[in-house]
Amino acid sequence: MSITALVNTDAVEILDGPVSDRSPLRFHRRLPGYEETPLVDAPGLADALGVGKVLVKDESSRLGLPAFKILGASWAVYRALEERLPEGEFGDWETVEELKERLEPLRPLDVVAATDGNHGRALAHVAGLLGLGAKIFVPEDMAAARREAIAGEGAEVVVVGGTYDEAVERSAAEEGERGLVVSDMSWPGYERIPSWVIEGYSTMLWEIDDELERRGVAGPDLVVVQVGVGAFAAAASRHFRGPRISRHPKLLGVEPANAACVLRSVEEGRIVSVPGPHDSIMAGLNCGQPSLVAWPTLSRGIDVLVAVDDEPAREAMRLMAASGIVSGETGAAGLGGLLELLRGGSPGQQQEQREARRALGVNRESRVLIFNCEGATDPDRYRRLVGGAQSPT
Ligand SMILES: Cc1ncc(COP(=O)(O)O)c(C=O)c1O
Repeated sequence: MSITALVNTDAVEILDGPVSDRSPLRFHRRLPGYEETPLVDAPGLADALGVGKVLVKDESSRLGLPAFKILGASWAVYRALEERLPEGEFGDWETVEELKERLEPLRPLDVVAATDGNHGRALAHVAGLLGLGAKIFVPEDMAAARREAIAGEGAEVVVVGGTYDEAVERSAAEEGERGLVVSDMSWPGYERIPSWVIEGYSTMLWEIDDELERRGVAGPDLVVVQVGVGAFAAAASRHFRGPRISRHPKLLGVEPANAACVLRSVEEGRIVSVPGPHDSIMAGLNCGQPSLVAWPTLSRGIDVLVAVDDEPAREAMRLMAASGIVSGETGAAGLGGLLELLRGGSPGQQQEQREARRALGVNRESRVLIFNCEGATDPDRYRRLVGGAQSPT
């Protein structure tokens, strides 16, 4: 097994800049099937890591889908549609049916994006709820189960020869009167919609705060996030390192070894791309370039980045299952990365790993928050990797 670790010397304790308010949470509460996802106390994982407490925000079932991504997709679609309608046309609404009626002047309209799986599926689901079309561009090496799940939401799926980043380029050309590009990736001139995607993720983070308050327990000392293009990491940085809270936890970002675009960018001090193939089993993290709009936040909010190969993710899936949590490859990646870092995986990297552990200050008392950001999105592979320990729902 191998692990690369990097301490981010540009990290600051308190981030300035906007903090997402509770408007996305108020919006999500009006969607059909909204429920707060569980915050699971997992003593078995705390033992495995040698820390005091592990809390898992379990996003394996969110608004009818097996990942948290619909939080960003739905909020960004909503904000973008609001802008396309004449001012005030949305008015007050209580149900999605009411919202759907008000969109009539915009039809026919497709929402469009490129995806590694979850964002596109979420977008297609939201389009279905709102009576809009969906056109989703996917890289050719995407697992058939993930492609079928997107098509199963009623989307047109376009397979692009090449990587996720090439699919992003193709999708961008669809913007127009009949096409609304809602990407979680951002590039020069395309920044507002991806910034709404980041805002949308805040719902999950406010839910954590509210639940900790109900339980009367302190917040985490360490927050572990999975990193693809970095939108989720930016949301977490903004939330946990904003001026709003008095005790700021450390943040650890986890990427696949062959798609460690944020680690490499932090090392260089600017956005860089890493060449493909990006073929980790942690499919949601197979991204070759950080999001432009996420970068200023995450590059100062994440304290340590690690890049791991696939084996820690497999091991973490099994550990999660033993704690009663259905966790897919990307879902378990955060736990896998932290496990590898704490046990000091690669012989050639011991100095870097020691420094990374020191920067995070993890000890036997630490309270760690991890995200099961994805359930069994590829159920056959889940069964092969985890066996009968836990059945995907
Ligand atoms: C389940 C899941 N978790 C985490 C991520 C990473 O999020 P981001 O690309 O914003 O870094 C993704 C990305 O698609 C994902 O699907």
